[in-house]
Amino acid sequence: MPVLSDATRGRILFGGDYNPEQWPEETWHEDVRLMKDAGVNSVTLGVFSWSKLEPEPGAREFGWLDTLMDLMHAGGIGVVLATPTASPPPWMGRLHPDTLPRTEDGRTEWWGGRQHFSHSSATYRRHAAAITADLAARYGGHPALTMWHINNEYCTFDYGDEAAAAFRRWLRQRYGTLDTLNTAWGTAFWSQGYDTWDGILPPRLPHYMRNPTQVLDFRRFTSDMLLECYVAERDIVRRHTPHLPVTSNFMPLWIGQDAWRWTEEEDVVSVDLYPDPRDPLGAQQGALVQDMTRSQARGPWMLMEQAAGPVNWRGVNHPKPHGLNRLWSLQAVARGADAVCYFQWRQSRQGAEKFHSGMVSHAGEQGRTYQEVRQLGADLARLSPHVTGQHSGADVAVLHDWHAWWAGAQDGRLSTEVDYADVLKTWHRALWQAHLTTDFAHPEHDLTAYKLVVVPQLYALTGTAIDNLLAYVRQGGTLVSGFLTGVADEDDRVRPGGMDARLRELFGIRTLHEWWPLDAGETVECDGPQGAFRGTLWSEELEADGTATETVPYKGGELDGLPAVLRRDRAWYLSTLPEPEALRDLLATIAADAGVRPVLDGLPGQVEAVRRGDLLFLLNHGREPVTVDVPGTHRDLLTEATVTDRVTLGRYGVAVLRP
Ligand code: GLA
Repeated sequence: MPVLSDATRGRILFGGDYNPEQWPEETWHEDVRLMKDAGVNSVTLGVFSWSKLEPEPGAREFGWLDTLMDLMHAGGIGVVLATPTASPPPWMGRLHPDTLPRTEDGRTEWWGGRQHFSHSSATYRRHAAAITADLAARYGGHPALTMWHINNEYCTFDYGDEAAAAFRRWLRQRYGTLDTLNTAWGTAFWSQGYDTWDGILPPRLPHYMRNPTQVLDFRRFTSDMLLECYVAERDIVRRHTPHLPVTSNFMPLWIGQDAWRWTEEEDVVSVDLYPDPRDPLGAQQGALVQDMTRSQARGPWMLMEQAAGPVNWRGVNHPKPHGLNRLWSLQAVARGADAVCYFQWRQSRQGAEKFHSGMVSHAGEQGRTYQEVRQLGADLARLSPHVTGQHSGADVAVLHDWHAWWAGAQDGRLSTEVDYADVLKTWHRALWQAHLTTDFAHPEHDLTAYKLVVVPQLYALTGTAIDNLLAYVRQGGTLVSGFLTGVADEDDRVRPGGMDARLRELFGIRTLHEWWPLDAGETVECDGPQGAFRGTLWSEELEADGTATETVPYKGGELDGLPAVLRRDRAWYLSTLPEPEALRDLLATIAADAGVRPVLDGLPGQVEAVRRGDLLFLLNHGREPVTVDVPGTHRDLLTEATVTDRVTLGRYGVAVLRP
């Protein structure tokens, strides 16, 4: 199968979504000049071009795209060609209302925005396949073409009738018989037993809480249906260009797609990433998504979209201060990206995203945004020969599974304060702040290469995953688990005892008497050997079985003296969420015991250090200059300077050191 390096050919891809159909032809020539000047070597064409390519049913308008493909080729700029299927033309909805998705309360999602397509609509799929086939036939042999980009951020749900029929088919395949489905869904509760497949619906808006397993299966189904759409288009382009890689861009840590499953079908894993420049944890949010994407790719990956300045979909949309775009771009390279791309090349003057930044902002060539983009282009060109194709794994893995997220993110839980994604971010943040590089892994993956595995929260676990965790510890691995892990099976059926018995034994828990969720802002005192700390969000009334080698008790309150943290040899269980610094210190201590070293010792808090191949990236996330000890002699690939023992990084400064 083709891979990212077939498209990069030794250069970090640099560029972005290019929407020339929004501009007159003179601007296209100006664009090529500016692209070349900035070192842009890749653009994504056609993402939302369907009505331009097929202005009326069956028509084909390829002339403008022919011109652009040729222009790009003449300028030495590669093209990632997108299928335009994320935004069907208005005629499609008008002539074929069956292509429009329905919300859970039966509303139609009309044209006039984007992504108004039903993944289950046979009509939509037929039209999508036709335009994809014609694009692939026409441009498959074009010398500018380097990669295919299918659709864009697949994310639609559909509760309509055609989706309902597809859902039933999907369920028949999963369960075989209605009896099995009724058992899996626990339909004995509230008189929900089904006597015919035709009675089953997507989880449309009910009077009161929905059947959780029905909701869970609907999420699985939706991810699978979107994947079917992707695979159908991928297979079409593959027939024409078996040598070119195919991707579709993920939204970062989005709940709707099981990205572990999706990446099995992708040649290149790509992601869109928009941390808030004002968020003090923006760099960590970026690191999390980058770590996750690298882990899914198991090698170099593509930053398909980021913003050169502000986005326009937050309440208040802040620009990136001078230097931040470069810093966050190089952070992605440090964490394995072989492509640094943007939405979009030139900021629009019309349409819903005209206040969203582009690489060329409304201020144009003289604007700070474009000038910083140019500098970044030069930096990436310097780094390209040293980094492309390089992959570095980690000693620590954070376990993450969409199915566990889906099962846990439902109504009728004990606390709406517990948010899966927030818990995951908090644990990753603790490791990031301890300067420990982390991979992400699925609970059924082979974990034996890792010295430390952490489970922030996996509410539902399959028997296979539990076997895997037990085997990992048996074979010498260190496991740290947060609360609400192993509570349910894959049907969201609570396991006897409130937590899988084998996991309880692993951690030294005899009885889990009660869960004691905490209110927002409420804390519980814990009295650890390394000092006292406060727990947040959750606590548990646990009875240890006497086999624990270490415990940290709750202090005061209803749970006084009961274990907040339990350790049985190499297996740790945290029944509360320690405050961030305490979690950082605890994980750092456990990691050190497990033989995991921070990337560099003695790093100032604001500096992130990442190794990629034999390179050491140092990234100053602070506005103040900082000096970092780096024993030995190195060459800074960005400045060509020799660095001996210490390096000073300016505001948002970066050094890329080669020994
Ligand atoms: C997403 C989309 C782009 C654009 C950006 C704006 O990532 O893929 O088309 O809408 O958001 O941030």
